[in-house]
Amino acid sequence: MTRSAVSLSNAEVAGLESRLMGYGTSASYRLPVALVRGAGTVVYDVEDRRFLDLFGGAGRCLLGHGDPAFTAALRAQISELLVSRYCHPARGRYAERLVHLAPEGLDHISFFSTGSEAVDAAIRLACHRTRRKHVVVFDGAFHGRTSSVADLTDPRWLPGGAPSATTARRCRYPAEGDPADGCAGARDDVLMALRDGDVAAVMIEPIQATGGNRCLTPGFLRWLSAVCAEDGALLILDEVVTAFGRTGLLFAAAADQVRPDIIVLGKGMANGVPVGAVLTSSVLAAVPPLGSPGGMSSTFGGNPLAVVASESVLDALSTSDLMRRAALMGSRLRSGLAETIGSHPAVAGITGTGLMVGIPLRIRADAAERVFLSHGLLVGVSGRTLRINPPLVITPAEVDEAVATIGDALGALVSEVG
Ligand SMILES: Cc1ncc(COP(=O)(O)O)c(C=O)c1O
Repeated sequence: MTRSAVSLSNAEVAGLESRLMGYGTSASYRLPVALVRGAGTVVYDVEDRRFLDLFGGAGRCLLGHGDPAFTAALRAQISELLVSRYCHPARGRYAERLVHLAPEGLDHISFFSTGSEAVDAAIRLACHRTRRKHVVVFDGAFHGRTSSVADLTDPRWLPGGAPSATTARRCRYPAEGDPADGCAGARDDVLMALRDGDVAAVMIEPIQATGGNRCLTPGFLRWLSAVCAEDGALLILDEVVTAFGRTGLLFAAAADQVRPDIIVLGKGMANGVPVGAVLTSSVLAAVPPLGSPGGMSSTFGGNPLAVVASESVLDALSTSDLMRRAALMGSRLRSGLAETIGSHPAVAGITGTGLMVGIPLRIRADAAERVFLSHGLLVGVSGRTLRINPPLVITPAEVDEAVATIGDALGALVSEVG
């Protein structure tokens, strides 16, 4: 008789997963920790060990684990209706609320199930609209892992025709704090890509997430917006991680006062329920593929549970001071870290804004996730950078606990890898 996974130990669950699952999932799945419950910023594993969740499922968990109002909204919706091919009051209501809060001109929303799906849709939209095929992207960018599947679908089901295969034009990402010529180099790269022609869109994360929680050099986004407008290429902001309060604002783009053509959303939008969305203008949305029935629909996109979850996140952000707190807790975290580990020889800097904090290391970080876990901390690791994206509900005491424990865990990591 097989025992249910929840009655297994951490090591048994990890053993089961490593025998039965491909590496295609995630290296974190191989670590011997099986989380089963949480409250706020704290989570527990099957053996009842406590962890401070400083990564929030890569930024998905905005309201924290087990938020009572969010849970109640989901429970009510599950018992009412999960599946409908028709209109739903929560979807219309949410769409109206979000476009009202979005940067000016973005008055149309389409729903998807993941960030990658929404990125795909944004690219398809840009290629159709401009009749061009290149996409300018930046070193260190992460926009998803799916390969484009529209090419494989019978063109009959793709109103407006099948998209032509896109080609990436890669440019340097001018991160804040890079030497001044880093920004000039990035500008040169973009101008050269636009000069080569056929650029449908320039897609950029206002703060690179997987790229290490690195902010863009101030002013670059506005410059990019201007050169895109001049060229006719669309500006797509990938705000899958940065939107919904993580940086202290509903949209990170608001800080630069730019008006992108498209914003891509996902992750924290529904606090862990799978979602993705594309915000654009009704002008762009009026033409195929968005403007044709079925041109861009997706089985689970905008399902009642996802929109109720998204609406519950918006309720929490608009009725509490969570966004302001994110900015404050982020500053407290960064200044605490600067004080305790800022001059550590293994630390190359403290980056990010709001509750997107990066700690680039001068040492290898492959063992970091495991070492930090053994200190009761969940962190993200990209290359040599530790990523901290906790739920927005993190308290000052938890920030202080995180700062102190990160110092200890870093010491342990340094002694392990030298
Ligand atoms: C900035 C960004 N865009 C897009 C994606 C893809 O989202 P998903 O994994 O939901 O497909 C991610 C995922 O981490 C991301 O960080």
